[in-house]
Amino acid sequence: MRQLNSINNILKKHPLNLGKGKKSIQNKVSLIETNQLKQLFNIEAKKYYASKNKTFTIDNNNKNFLNQLCRYFTQDEAFETIHNGDLNKGLFIYGNSGTGKTSSLTIINQISKKYTLKNLWFPIIETSEVVMKFNTEKNKDYVIKYYSNGNYMLDDLGSEPFASNIFIYGKEDIFIRILEARYIQFITKGTKTYITSNLTLQEIKKRYGLRIEDRFIEMFNILKLDGESRR
Ligand SMILES: Nc1ncnc2c1ncn2[C@@H]1O[C@H](COP(=O)(O)OP(=O)(O)OP(=O)(O)O)[C@@H](O)[C@H]1O
Ligand SMILES: [Mg+2]
Repeated sequence: MRQLNSINNILKKHPLNLGKGKKSIQNKVSLIETNQLKQLFNIEAKKYYASKNKTFTIDNNNKNFLNQLCRYFTQDEAFETIHNGDLNKGLFIYGNSGTGKTSSLTIINQISKKYTLKNLWFPIIETSEVVMKFNTEKNKDYVIKYYSNGNYMLDDLGSEPFASNIFIYGKEDIFIRILEARYIQFITKGTKTYITSNLTLQEIKKRYGLRIEDRFIEMFNILKLDGESRR
């Protein structure tokens, strides 16, 4: 309740604009409505980009994506009815470099912390960081297991190098194991994975194999965030 009060206090300064359309039906799980999240996103994105000497821009390249993202994180049925998505799946966000994939999820993550919206929260893990941990850790299976559990954002999948597994294989592309394990967690527990990547599904297949690509279709909503780089 306290968190809703604090959100409403923020929104008092920035009144809700519910628009002309019908208010979307909200799933019971959500603690915040889509229009509220959009308002918060607007406020926090402005601050986030200002801290990077950028001006938050919404244009034809990211408008639909940001709509989808807010509807997804509020468990809004419109995500399924309008965008043909599945609220039980995770997110695979792909597109050119610099289009705002990492930033958008980082802003959602910051909103969840600031307004204690637990169901929006996820740790942000860089895929190359996982490889570094794997390379230096003695207990390699532990690293794989650690990153196979819980709702995580895996940032920049496909940019990570192959890992060194001198004991067994020499080089290993460890995300094959992590993603397979996360698929099992998704099926058995509904664990969500949020991925950002420059790779298309075709390129995912090329690097991680057909088994992974096949699982991606089942476990992810595939969202494209394209356009010129904003860097
Ligand atoms: N909507 C936006 N308005 C203004 N600046 C933005 C916006 N989205 C992203 N940026 C800026 O563009 C740059 C790239 O953003 P970000 O790192 O999120 O892109 P990315 O899609 O994750 O890129 P990559 O694929 O290379 O990881 C950053 O400096 C970020 O601040
Ligand atoms: Mg990125």
